[in-house]
Amino acid sequence: MAKTKTGDQPVVLITGTSSGVGFHTALRFAAAGYVTVASMRDTSKKKPLLEKAKAAGHKIFVERLDVASKKSVKAAVKRVLKRYGRIDVLINNAGAGFLGSVEQTTDDDLHRTMDINFFGVWHMTRAVFPQMRERGSGRIISVTSVGGLIGQPFNEAYCAAKFAVEGMMEGFAPLARRMGVSVSLIEPGPINTEFVANVRATSAEGLASFEAPYDGLIAKYMGASEGVFAQFGQTGDDIAGIILDTARAEKPDFRYVTSDFAKQIVKPKVVDYSGNNVVDAFAARLE
Ligand SMILES: NC(=O)c1ccc[n+]([C@@H]2O[C@H](COP(=O)([O-])OP(=O)(O)OC[C@H]3O[C@@H](n4cnc5c(N)ncnc54)[C@H](OP(=O)(O)O)[C@@H]3O)[C@@H](O)[C@H]2O)c1
Repeated sequence: MAKTKTGDQPVVLITGTSSGVGFHTALRFAAAGYVTVASMRDTSKKKPLLEKAKAAGHKIFVERLDVASKKSVKAAVKRVLKRYGRIDVLINNAGAGFLGSVEQTTDDDLHRTMDINFFGVWHMTRAVFPQMRERGSGRIISVTSVGGLIGQPFNEAYCAAKFAVEGMMEGFAPLARRMGVSVSLIEPGPINTEFVANVRATSAEGLASFEAPYDGLIAKYMGASEGVFAQFGQTGDDIAGIILDTARAEKPDFRYVTSDFAKQIVKPKVVDYSGNNVVDAFAARLE
């Protein structure tokens, strides 16, 4: 492996590491010996991550990066490449849910949800990929969701964004593979992180102001969902472990559905859980 400016270790860049999956992913990669660049849009939140890494005897480098800003993405990737020499693994993890009906979701909420969950992934991938292509190696791992395959009520905007990531990456995977870069999707079901509290916070006004006929339905949906998180929720660290395994796999799958419960949800749509059949079929058209 070529030397980075920080030595022989591979460099990972992770988005959205202030909490949840991203936070644990940064810790896992640091412990595994990667030069770990943990990005967050608000670096005033870095203390808990840095303290936890330090207590475990590991180093993590924090960079400011707001995936919803093309300018921030470009500047951060440029900075990371200058400081650490290259990016071997990109983890598109940053994301945010939103609850609303098609009728009552504002354009601002729709655009914000697409910006964070879809355009952010597109812009990150476009910024990081060229140096992987030039080296003929790299891994791009994106955290989508079972909501990237299965639409769920009141999650129309969020699922649309995650479906968009799925389509983009399924299309991109055969081309990236030809250039030595693997593309993988991580598709969790419920994870007990800050996610739901953040969804409630950003959708709070909407939840309170749901109008008939949606007001009673959102209450029912939220009640049912809480039970699902309590019974079937994985931890942020569970998902981080799967992401690290993906980065280290000799030949990573295209798709990782992360739990039996998640598989049960996507089963009606997916018969080949690895997703390799679709990628292989289109890769063959590039031969
Ligand atoms: N939790 C679930 O049930 C679940 C299920 C399936 C998939 N997922 C996916 O898993 C991924 C991680 O979510 P999580 O469960 O760990 O939730 P989380 O605890 O809410 O973490 C989300 C992270 O994304 C960051 N983020 C949000 N907007 C950003 C932006 N514009 N630029 C940069 N970072 C931004 C947040 O930063 P701030 O602190 O600044 O907000 C936070 O660090 C997301 O892609 C999510 O869609 C979650």
